[in-house]
Amino acid sequence: MRTIIRFAAEADAYKLSSHIKKTLNETPFMISEGHEYRPSLENEEYWIRQTYKDGGMILLAFSGKSLVGMLSVSRHVRIRRSHVCSFGISVIKSQHGKGIGGQLMRTMMEWCTSQQGLEKITLEVFSNNKKAIQLYEQMGFKEEGRMRNEIRYRDGTYADMITMAFFIKRK
Ligand SMILES: CC(C)(COP(=O)(O)OP(=O)(O)OC[C@H]1O[C@@H](n2cnc3c(N)ncnc32)[C@H](O)[C@@H]1OP(=O)(O)O)[C@@H](O)C(=O)NCCC(=O)NCCS
Repeated sequence: MRTIIRFAAEADAYKLSSHIKKTLNETPFMISEGHEYRPSLENEEYWIRQTYKDGGMILLAFSGKSLVGMLSVSRHVRIRRSHVCSFGISVIKSQHGKGIGGQLMRTMMEWCTSQQGLEKITLEVFSNNKKAIQLYEQMGFKEEGRMRNEIRYRDGTYADMITMAFFIKRK
């Protein structure tokens, strides 16, 4: 089925939080465990509103009527850092490897290029998230730094937090 990508609106708050909850429960590669995420609908609506207000955006990927992926961009609000944004991405497990993550990233990078004054896109990724790192490298992101043993799992194993960045080149 074809994937449709569109911007999220406040009215998507419920769908969006269900998606986040689902992916947090499916993956060990995100910062929160599923039970740690329990925003109210009002909180979620506020977050969507504030993201746009601060110059960021949220993309949703649909397969038919099902929400299968999302990507959110936060732009830094302080003047000295306002040329930088960061993003987070998630696709539901059953839809991995079908090109949805790549499609979301390409749409995001085009949007970022159209944003006045935006020069740098950053992200954080766990060092054991090889799939995601491969996707980011494929899109031109490069490692900038590494916080050693920043992530500790319940079984006592650790992962590093890698920061990566892409510098926007305009013609
Ligand atoms: C990371 C994630 C967003 C990728 O989404 P996706 O829709 O599966 O990615 P795509 O199908 O578009 O694949 C894009 C690229 O990812 C890499 N990739 C995908 N599946 C892979 C696999 N099994 N092994 C290695 N690389 C893989 C490849 O580079 C691939 O490009 P290619 O198809 O040209 O080879 C998705 O796995 C996800 O949501 N994971 C859980 C949450 C998460 O880790 N978010 C990121 C936190 S930093």
